[in-house]
Amino acid sequence: MTAQLNPRGDVAVLVPAAGAGVRLGPGAPKALRLLAGEPLLMHAVRRIAAAPSVHTIVVAAPATEVEAVRAMLAHVAPVTVVPGGAERQASVAAALAAVPAGPEIVLVHDAARALTPPHLVESVAAAVRDGHDAVIPVLPVVDTIKEVDATERVLGTVDRSALRAVQTPQGFRRPVLVAAHRSAADALTDDAGLVEKQGIAVTCVPGSELALKITRPFDLALAEHLLTTGA
Ligand code: CTP
Ligand code: MG
Repeated sequence: MTAQLNPRGDVAVLVPAAGAGVRLGPGAPKALRLLAGEPLLMHAVRRIAAAPSVHTIVVAAPATEVEAVRAMLAHVAPVTVVPGGAERQASVAAALAAVPAGPEIVLVHDAARALTPPHLVESVAAAVRDGHDAVIPVLPVVDTIKEVDATERVLGTVDRSALRAVQTPQGFRRPVLVAAHRSAADALTDDAGLVEKQGIAVTCVPGSELALKITRPFDLALAEHLLTTGA
C-alpha cells in the first residue's frame, strides 16, 4: 500500500542513494541490494514515510537507475527521484535542489541506514523545530580508540568520553543547509561537517542502534537478523 505524506508537514527528507556499495562487495548499487527480499532503499523510504512530519521525500538514485527507482518506490510512498552524483555531497546537492517551496526543515538520510525507525526522523526534526540550526543523532563510542602513525605504532589513547559516532538523519533549518552546500569547497561524507565549516552550532540528540549504516556484508547479515526479530 502506498503511504500518504503529510501535506501540512514541515519536513523534507533527502535520501542519497546513488552510491555503488564497493565495501559490500560486487553486485548492484547498494541501495538496490536486497534485504529480506526488498531493496535497502524501499526499507528506508517506508520508514521515512511513516514519520508524521514528513511532507516531501527526494531520493538521489544512481544515474542509470532513475526510472527503475521511480517505478519501485511508486508502491511505497510519493517520492521525487533525481539522478545522484559521483560523490555523496553531489547527490545531496541534487536532491536539495529538487525540494519544492514549503518545508522549512530539511533532513539528510542515507539510504544505507535502511532500518532507521520513524521516531528518529521525528526527534531530529523536533530538535530543529525547537530552534536548533543543525541536529545530528549520535551514539557513544564503545571501543577504546587509539591514534596510530603510518606504521601502525600507537601514538596515544583518545579520551572516548568526548567522542560520538554520528548517524543520519541529520536535520537542518533549510537556509542553513542551502548556504552550506552553496559554499562547500571539499567533498565531505557528512552534511553537518559542511555546516560546522560555516561556524554554525551543531547539536546532538540520541541516535538509535537500528540506524546502523549497512556498509559491509556483516552489517547486511545483522540487518537481516534484526528484521526477523521485528525491526
Ligand atoms: N551516496 C550517494 N552518492 C554517492 C555516494 C554515496 O548518494 N556518489 C549515498 C549512498 O547511496 C548511501 C550514503 O550515501 O546511501 C552513504 O554512503 P556509503 O554508505 O558510503 O554508500 P556507498 O558509497 O554506496 O558505499 P561504498 O562507499 O562502500 O561504495
Ligand atoms: Mg561511499
